[in-house]
Amino acid sequence: MPTPHPQFPTLQVFDHPLIQHKLTYLRDRQTSFRAFRALIAQIAGLMVYEVTRTFPAEQIEIETPMGRHRGTKITASITVCPVLRAGLGMAEGVLDVMPEARVGHIGLFRDEKTLLPTQYLSKLPRDLDAGPVILVDPMLATGGSAAKAAQMLFDQGAKDVRFLCLVAAPEGVTRFSDEFPKVPIYAGALDDRLNDQGFILPGLGDAGDRMYGTQ
Ligand code: PRP
Repeated sequence: MPTPHPQFPTLQVFDHPLIQHKLTYLRDRQTSFRAFRALIAQIAGLMVYEVTRTFPAEQIEIETPMGRHRGTKITASITVCPVLRAGLGMAEGVLDVMPEARVGHIGLFRDEKTLLPTQYLSKLPRDLDAGPVILVDPMLATGGSAAKAAQMLFDQGAKDVRFLCLVAAPEGVTRFSDEFPKVPIYAGALDDRLNDQGFILPGLGDAGDRMYGTQ
C-alpha cells in the first residue's frame, strides 16, 4: 500500500519494490523510448490497484458453474483523463486493467519560459459526475498543468477526482494540494526539487519527449 506522506497529507507515495524497480529503469537515461513507453503503462497499471481501492462497489448475486455466489461489482462509471502527451502512456496502463473505463483527453503544453500551461484540447465525457475520475500525468513539476487539468474536470462537473503521477516535486505537491485539498495525489516518488528550467531533480527528463523520441 502507498504510505501517506508526513509533510503532505493528500500525498501517498508508493513504496512497493516492483513499482520502485520499474521507476528506476524509467529514470535511467539509457532506457529506449520504446521501453520507456512500456514502463510508463506498466507502472500506471500497478498503481491503479490502490487508486481504485475506495471505489464505490455493491454486492451482486451470480451463478458459478457450481452454484450461487455473492460477488463484488464496481458500480460507478469510471473515467481516466490523461494530460497529453505523456499522460497517454499512463492511460494505456490503466485501461489494460480497467478496459471499461471511459477516456477524457486533456491537451496541455507548458511554455518553456513562463512554465505556464496552455490548453489545446478538452474532450471529456459530459457526465463526469457519474463516477470517479482518475487524472493521469507522469510529472508533477510546478503543478500548473495538474492544477489546470483538475480545474477543467471540476468545471465540467466532476465530483470525485484522484490524481495519479509517477514523479512529483515538492513545489508541485504544495501548489496542487493548496488548490485542491480534497484531491488525493498518488505518486511513485517525491523527488528533491525543481531546477531553474522547471525540471524535476533527479526526475526522469521530459516524459513526453522520452515517450515519443522527440528530444
Ligand atoms: C510535462 C508533463 C506535465 C507538465 C508538468 O508536459 O508531462 O504535463 O509538463 O509540468 P508542470 O507541473 O510544471 O505544469 P509538457 O508540457 O512538457 O508536454 P508534453 O507531455 O506534450 O511533452
